[in-house]
Amino acid sequence: MNATGDSAGRTVALVTGGSKGLGAAIAKTLAADGMSVAINYHSDHAAARQVRTQIREAGHVAEIFQADVTDPDQVAELNAGIFSALGSVDVLVLNATGPQPDAEIEDLSWDEMLRQFEYFARSPLLLAQATIPRMRRQGYGRIISIGSEAFELGTPGSSAYVAAKGAQLGLTRSWARELGPTGITVNLVAPGFIPTERHAAVSEQDRDTYGAGVPMHRLGHPDDVAAAVSFLASPYAGFVTGQRIAVNGGHTL
Ligand SMILES: NC(=O)c1ccc[n+]([C@@H]2O[C@H](COP(=O)([O-])OP(=O)(O)OC[C@H]3O[C@@H](n4cnc5c(N)ncnc54)[C@H](OP(=O)(O)O)[C@@H]3O)[C@@H](O)[C@H]2O)c1
Repeated sequence: MNATGDSAGRTVALVTGGSKGLGAAIAKTLAADGMSVAINYHSDHAAARQVRTQIREAGHVAEIFQADVTDPDQVAELNAGIFSALGSVDVLVLNATGPQPDAEIEDLSWDEMLRQFEYFARSPLLLAQATIPRMRRQGYGRIISIGSEAFELGTPGSSAYVAAKGAQLGLTRSWARELGPTGITVNLVAPGFIPTERHAAVSEQDRDTYGAGVPMHRLGHPDDVAAAVSFLASPYAGFVTGQRIAVNGGHTL
């Protein structure tokens, strides 16, 4: 059996798309929890560096790794790079997303549909295949996907995204059963609408309308999602697997 963690015994967490939005909040929270955090990003090197700087200035440990997590060769290189720099991946947070098409049925192309499945089914498979062998050997691992309430709501005009988010939940449930005996847990956190940089164009009125429909009468914050991930990544969640935790103020209760 391998020991978990980096050379200092810290649990190592990989957060895909950790350079901004929810991923950045998750990376900072897991680092504050005492983990050594691998921040993956795709194109925005400056944003990734900024998250790493914030984590280091707070006295915690982080490194940045550029890779397109939908590409098999780049995922293999990412895994090798993290292993060489940090020694392990004990917690895998599947968070990265690209643009999400707004298109009604007649206007939706198969390529657009496929691109969503590359993010939410292919990339999780590639990353799980890269990291699970070591998790199995050490008898410990945490896989946490960031899903969406959109799957439960069946958001119209977003069927490619919704379908791919459904695939993510299906993987979570099958993998939880498959990996149950190994000490690896697999769960999904499903946020509601949480404004990040990419939602700059969403009007105040639309934000207020959404918030008014949330039982807790507010929009979520990236830290709300990070807190749920922190719990699932912690020893306190050792007997929780195959679950979907909605972080949306009760919007889908
Ligand atoms: N925010 C919400 O309202 C909301 C609601 C429900 C669910 N979610 C889910 O939460 C997750 C994060 O969403 P977000 O709103 O925080 O997104 P975001 O702010 O747009 O951030 C996306 C992140 O993914 C990275 N990324 C994009 N393509 C990548 C690729 N091919 N390989 C590696 N990294 C890549 C980006 O890196 P670069 O910038 O370097 O390209 C960035 O760090 C997603 O799974 C999303 O579906 C979000």
